[in-house]
Amino acid sequence: MTTKTTQYISTFEKDVTKGLSSFPKSLSSKYFYDKKGDKLFQDIMAMPTYYLTDSEYEIIASQKEDISVAFQAKSGFDLIELGAGDGKKTKVLLKYLSEKGIDYSYLPIDISQNVLDGLKESVQQEIPNIDIKPQQGTYFEVLDDLASYKARKKVILFLGSNIGNLLHPQAIDFLAHIQEGMNTDDLLFMGFDQKKNPQTILDAYNDKEGITAAFNKNVLHRINNELNANFDVDQFLHWEVYDPETGTAKSYLVSKKEQLVKIDKLQLEVPFNAWETIHTEISQKYDDNIVSWLASESGLQIVNQFTDSKGYYKNYIFKKK
Ligand code: AVI
Repeated sequence: MTTKTTQYISTFEKDVTKGLSSFPKSLSSKYFYDKKGDKLFQDIMAMPTYYLTDSEYEIIASQKEDISVAFQAKSGFDLIELGAGDGKKTKVLLKYLSEKGIDYSYLPIDISQNVLDGLKESVQQEIPNIDIKPQQGTYFEVLDDLASYKARKKVILFLGSNIGNLLHPQAIDFLAHIQEGMNTDDLLFMGFDQKKNPQTILDAYNDKEGITAAFNKNVLHRINNELNANFDVDQFLHWEVYDPETGTAKSYLVSKKEQLVKIDKLQLEVPFNAWETIHTEISQKYDDNIVSWLASESGLQIVNQFTDSKGYYKNYIFKKK
């Protein structure tokens, strides 16, 4: 009798195999994030050159009154946040809504119960009377669930220009999926980093301290640790380019020499020529025309927009078309 062993291959394993066996090579930026990657991203958000965080904070802090007016509804509303993180920007808005006695509940969504527990504790500490109902799951598991309640107005928050890590067709799929779960009065409040002086954008993704480089290279550390590989991380260079015509910033890891990497868990050998690239991330920059086009392709329309004093960043409010 022979025994059959079933081998489960994770999405990470499949994606790494495909990305490093293709030409040109690529790895998804979603794999930057583990405990170390999360910390590096926190450090990036604190860098003065990474203007995105300060710009969005300024918009929310200085225009919270107008934003709240747009959100309000007679029978209150559910404020649903996709991927709240540490909630620093959102808390400014939550505090204001609570101080004004506006009727709302806060429903942060995250895949990690740990993140939600930490967020709940810190939000309740700062805003003791808040009605917070954390929702554990993927964005769409929870949004699809919430769509069937139709109880009261939903305001969906998606901050940080996170949409920028998706190519346009993926961004349209993402927006269209959100749109399908929205009712006529529901709103989507989203951050979009804007086109600007190309140098400002390059500086945001190419800091001298090397924090962004470490963030980019973290995907190689993850492959080393989780898939038993032998990437010599110092033999790869972090490289950023920005195309002002398309508004696309792209991150690469460039092999400094000819080398062979072994990934034991995948039984894979990956040869690199000198100066061969691995494409790792896009960070799309937008203008009103691109955002209107994305909205209209997804069945949405822009009903309001807010910008910071430098015009670096915009938060748009969308409704169903
Ligand atoms: C999460 N995301 C919107 C960030 C961005 O700007 O693309 C990730 C990042 N990559 C390098 N720096 C920050």
